[in-house]
Amino acid sequence: MAKPKPKLHVAVFPWLALGHMIPYLQLSKLIARKGHNVSFISTPRNISRLPKIPSNLTVIFVSLPLPHGVDHLPEKAEGTTDVPETHIAYLKEAFDGLSEAFSEFLESSKPDWIVYDILHHWVPPIAEKLGVRRAMFCTFNAASIIIINGPASIMIHGRDPRKTVEDLIVPPPWVPFETNIVYRLFEAMRIMEYPTAGVTGAELNDNYRTGLTYFGSEVIAIRTCMELEPEWIQLLSKLQGKPVIPIGLLSPSPVDEADDEGPWLDIREWLDTQRVKSVVYVALGTEVTVSNEEIQGLAHGLERCGLPFFWMLRKRTGASVFLPDGFEERVKGRGIVRTEWVPQTKILSHGSVGGFVTHCGWGSAVEGLSFGVPLIMFPCNLDQPLVARLLGGLNIGLEISRNEQDGSVTSASVAETIRLVVVEEDGKIYRDNAASQQKKIFGNKRLQDQYADSFIEFLENQRAGM
Ligand SMILES: *[C@@H]1O[C@H](CO)[C@@H](O)[C@H](O)[C@H]1NC(C)=O
Ligand SMILES: *[C@@H]1O[C@H](CO)[C@@H](O)[C@H](O)[C@H]1NC(C)=O
Ligand SMILES: *[C@@H]1O[C@H](CO)[C@@H](O)[C@H](O)[C@H]1NC(C)=O
Repeated sequence: MAKPKPKLHVAVFPWLALGHMIPYLQLSKLIARKGHNVSFISTPRNISRLPKIPSNLTVIFVSLPLPHGVDHLPEKAEGTTDVPETHIAYLKEAFDGLSEAFSEFLESSKPDWIVYDILHHWVPPIAEKLGVRRAMFCTFNAASIIIINGPASIMIHGRDPRKTVEDLIVPPPWVPFETNIVYRLFEAMRIMEYPTAGVTGAELNDNYRTGLTYFGSEVIAIRTCMELEPEWIQLLSKLQGKPVIPIGLLSPSPVDEADDEGPWLDIREWLDTQRVKSVVYVALGTEVTVSNEEIQGLAHGLERCGLPFFWMLRKRTGASVFLPDGFEERVKGRGIVRTEWVPQTKILSHGSVGGFVTHCGWGSAVEGLSFGVPLIMFPCNLDQPLVARLLGGLNIGLEISRNEQDGSVTSASVAETIRLVVVEEDGKIYRDNAASQQKKIFGNKRLQDQYADSFIEFLENQRAGM
C-alpha cells in the first residue's frame, strides 16, 4: 500500500473584492476537505464579513491590517465597493503596503504553497526567497483574461499594440484561432475610457502588475473547465509558458450563504407565493458603475414585461442611481426592489425564479447557471461582454440588444428579451439548454470534485523540497 502523502499547509491570498474572496473561500474548503491546513489571508473587515465555514475544516483566517494614510482613500476603505471606481488605484496602493506584514507572515509560518490573485505582483518574489511554492489563481475565465491581458512580456513592457477602438472589436493578435468573443463598438469605447490605475495616479497599472504576477508564478490555476473553453485554456498556457490547471467553476451552494434569518425569510415568503419559474431576478453586481440611462431602460423594461421580479439594486460608493418616478408604486405587488444585501444564491436556487438578468460577471453568471436559471444578459464593462459572448454560444440565454454606437437600450427590447427567455414558447430552447448545461457542467458536483482533486494532487506532488 502506498504511504499516505504528508499533509500540506496552503496559504491563499485573494484580491480585496467579494467576487474574488468567495471563490478563494470555495477553493480553501475543497483543499481543507482533504485534511490540509489552509491560511486565508485578507484584511480584518473583509474577514469579518465572510460566510462561516464548517468547524471541522482547518481554514485559519490571517488578518493583515491595511496601512492607512494613503492619500484619497477613506479611512475605513478596505474593499473595492468602499471606494468610487476612479479611486480603486489608491486601494491598490494601500494594498501594496501589505507586503511587509505578508512577508513576516510567510517567514514565520512557511506554508508549502502560496496561492494568490492576479494583482499580487510582489508576492512571488517574497515567496521565492523563502522557498514557498507559487500558484497564481485567476478568478476570471480563460478567454476573458487572454483577450484583456495578452502575454506577460507585452504586459510588463507596456507593448499592447491595441490603441484604438477598432483594435478592440476584433480578436487580439495573440489569438491564433477564429472567435466571436470580441467587444462591440460601444463596449470598446467604454474599455478605452475606463479609469485604469495608471491614469489615476498609482505607480503600477493593472497590466504591469498582472504581467509580473504571471511571470513570477510556477503554475496558473483558473476558475474554468475544459468542457467550456478548452482552446482558451491551452492558449493561456502557451502564451504564459506555464502549466495552467483549470480548477472547475467553484459553483456556490445555497447552504454556504448566511443563516435562515433576516432578509431571507421575507424574501422566501414572497417567492413561495409566486408561480414556478415565473420570477425574474435582477442583479448587476457592484464592481462596475451602471449608468442611470441603463437603470432607467431596465426599469421601464421590467415594468413592461409584466412578469414578477426581484431586483437587487446595490450601488457602489460614490455612485447614485435613480429609478423612474413612481416606478415602485406602479409595480407594487409584482416587483420588489432591494438596495441592501440579499442572499443571492438562495434566491437563485428557489423554484419560482425563471430568469436572471445579470451583468455577466463570471461569478454571477456561473451561479445562475449552477441552478439551471437561464440568463438575460446585460454586460456593461470589463470582462462582462466577453463572458456574455462565451456563454451566449451555449444558448443558455440571450443578450439584451443595445444600440451599437452608444449602448442604449429600449424598454421594448428589455421586455421582449426577458419574456422570450422566461416564458415565451420561442424561448424554450434557452430554458432547456440552461437545464441541461446545469446537469452537464455548471451544477455538476462530480466534475467539480475531479478538477479540485487534480489541482490538490498537483500541490501535493510538487511541494517544496521535492
Ligand atoms: C495543521 O494544523 C494543525 C493544528 O494547528 C497542526 O498541528 C499541524 O501540524 C498542521 N499541519 C501542517 C501540515 O501544517
Ligand atoms: C466535516 O464534517 C462533515 C459532516 O458534518 C463530513 O462530511 C466531512 O467529512 C468532515 N470533513 C473533515 C475533513 O473532517
Ligand atoms: C471588504 O471590506 C469592505 C469594507 O471595508 C466591504 O465593503 C466589502 O464588502 C468587504 N468584502 C467582504 C467579502 O465582506
